[in-house]
Amino acid sequence: MSPEVLPVDAMQPDADALQRAATAILAGRLVAFPTETVYGLGANALDSQAVERIFAAKGRPANNPIIVHVADVAAATQLTTSWPAAAQSLAQRFWPGPLTLVLPKRPEVPAVVTGGGPNVGVRLPAHPVAAALLRTVRVPIAAPSANASLHISPTTAEHVVRSLGDRVDLVLDAGACPGGLESTVVDLTSDPPRMLRPGLVTLDQLCECLPEIVVVETVPGESEHGSTTMSKAAMSKMPLPAPGQLARHYAPHVPLEVVAGDAWPTVERHLQHGERVGWLALGSTARRAESRLAVIEMPIDAAGYAAQLYAALHQLDDGSVDHIVVSQPPDGAAWQAVHDRLRRAAAV
Ligand code: TXA
Ligand code: MG
Repeated sequence: MSPEVLPVDAMQPDADALQRAATAILAGRLVAFPTETVYGLGANALDSQAVERIFAAKGRPANNPIIVHVADVAAATQLTTSWPAAAQSLAQRFWPGPLTLVLPKRPEVPAVVTGGGPNVGVRLPAHPVAAALLRTVRVPIAAPSANASLHISPTTAEHVVRSLGDRVDLVLDAGACPGGLESTVVDLTSDPPRMLRPGLVTLDQLCECLPEIVVVETVPGESEHGSTTMSKAAMSKMPLPAPGQLARHYAPHVPLEVVAGDAWPTVERHLQHGERVGWLALGSTARRAESRLAVIEMPIDAAGYAAQLYAALHQLDDGSVDHIVVSQPPDGAAWQAVHDRLRRAAAV
């Protein structure tokens, strides 16, 4: 069974479609909708049973908190017990947009939303469909990326349907998300504030508002968040400090490797071993697709690359290749989120 998919104009969404989506959310159902980053799987954030359905639909561990999307800054302040100057200046500069702020939650925010933890992540999305849906429904919307847990985030309605099937009740289809990678997550409850997940707002941009910000790093290759000495069993019962930091995340089903410099010898080696290879080349290449080789020429600018990355991985992750080789993108602040997602996709 497939969910109902309602096409909507990305710039001027149809009022009837928005009303139907809002009614579904208020009835405790799950509605997938586009944001400027990726598609979200939305439920009424104040309805704990509805939010529990998100966890079930995704197969998401109960201790991984969900971002709450709001229509305006006032709605964000109603979910949090404090709204420090840093929150105000970040919101002023980056909202609406791809930035999530973690702050102490009010008791009205159900514990299920925050994975049992004391803090809530809030975000005011810029996509006209997300913004219009929030204004129509008039409740905050809890929404993780609309994919099965640990898999690639969806940037189209088709990706959502492929990953979740009828575990989502309704999908608002406004075409591809313009950003293509998830929001930057900043924890303002710690001193100094911490960037928990790089995203479309870059560290350099954050530093202009918040020079003292630090970055949380994970240990590559660890399948759970690294640098702690706690046992996995103990950790699984605790709210995660920085859950987006699971080392393997955003991953295709087949092995993925990132190759610096000329990736062709690596591609060729896999072909010679009889494997079917998908290659994300950087810019144009003279190499052409052949029977066991799929070539995707990725944009050479960071924003273009980010917008295409998940779509390219979805395309190659349909069982048609055994191995994915990615030509390593350039260094630089604008590429940080791309490198982060590739590192996670490659982690074993
Ligand atoms: O761009 C995005 O952020 C998309 C769109 C739909 O808004 N959402 C998204 O949600 O990527 P999700 O659940 O796939 O990733 C949210 C990340 C997770 O790593 C989660 O652990 C972290 O943000 N997060 C959410 N609430 C948090 C909190 N209270 N404290 C710490 N981390 C939190
Ligand atoms: Mg996600």
